[in-house]
Amino acid sequence: MQLNNTILTVSNLVKNYGAKPAVSDLSLGIREGEFLGLLGPNGAGKTTTIKLLTGLTKPDGGDILYFGKSFFSHPKQAKELIGVVPQQSNLDRDLTAFENLNLHAILHNIPGKLRRGKIDEALDFAGLLEYGNKQVKTFSGGMKRRLVIVRSLLHDPKILFLDEPTVGLDPQIRRNLWDLVYRVNQVKKTAILLTTHYIEEAEKLCQRVKIINSGSIIADDTPAQLKKEVGSFVVEYLDQEERKERFFASKEEALAALKEIDGEAKVREATLEDVFIKLTGRRINV
Ligand SMILES: Nc1ncnc2c1ncn2[C@@H]1O[C@H](COP(=O)(O)OP(=O)(O)O)[C@@H](O)[C@H]1O
Ligand SMILES: [Mg+2]
Repeated sequence: MQLNNTILTVSNLVKNYGAKPAVSDLSLGIREGEFLGLLGPNGAGKTTTIKLLTGLTKPDGGDILYFGKSFFSHPKQAKELIGVVPQQSNLDRDLTAFENLNLHAILHNIPGKLRRGKIDEALDFAGLLEYGNKQVKTFSGGMKRRLVIVRSLLHDPKILFLDEPTVGLDPQIRRNLWDLVYRVNQVKKTAILLTTHYIEEAEKLCQRVKIINSGSIIADDTPAQLKKEVGSFVVEYLDQEERKERFFASKEEALAALKEIDGEAKVREATLEDVFIKLTGRRINV
């Protein structure tokens, strides 16, 4: 059953590299304006999922529908609905910001008389208006990321795929990027599928989070509900030098348990990392 505000419906997607599945039996749906996160460690299958959903690689099984139509039988139509920011930047360093955006506008058949206005608006949205005529090679890492994001929006896609958009950036620059991505969703109403291995990024930005591990979705809910299911309060303590956690529904219960523990211990609120640990026995970021 297709709800009419559903942009993307993915069912039972499979991608194998050799004998090993990079993505197995992955299903998801994204509605207009929604902000979905795909959170998982390195090698979990996040980039492979984005590549499958944007047509960069073919699945070995499963279905991808954009507005109820098969991606495989209507690839051109679907690609007009999609904006993509890949994990590796693909800007032309020798061109200016304006020229990079203009190239994208031409590739997407944006009429000549609209291009200038749309490009200026994009530069402004990214806080880069005064840098339009500067070569991209003079840009900082954060400026390049902002430029790639607004470039991907020039043709007004319905859904934006962001693959690890803040990887390798300083915390301050990362927060700037979060602000931009948040505004894209709130102001432009673009639906977003963002992949990340940063816990805080998923918690801060995403309305719903799917946790991915070894190619499979192992949990799916709002960040608050995911944490509630494991226990929203954590007693963290050292057991023979090893850090351990116990989970409680309320702060009172956690504080009562804390009193029983000898040695170093504290109570804190649960994070999505705790959810991952509880489900897999491992940390997301090792
Ligand atoms: N082109 C490829 N050829 C072979 N194996 C690949 C290829 N791309 C990814 N993989 C493997 O698939 C798994 C998922 O990779 P990837 O989707 O890049 O994970 P993530 O983006 O979550 O770090 C990993 O085990 C990776 O080594
Ligand atoms: Mg990746």
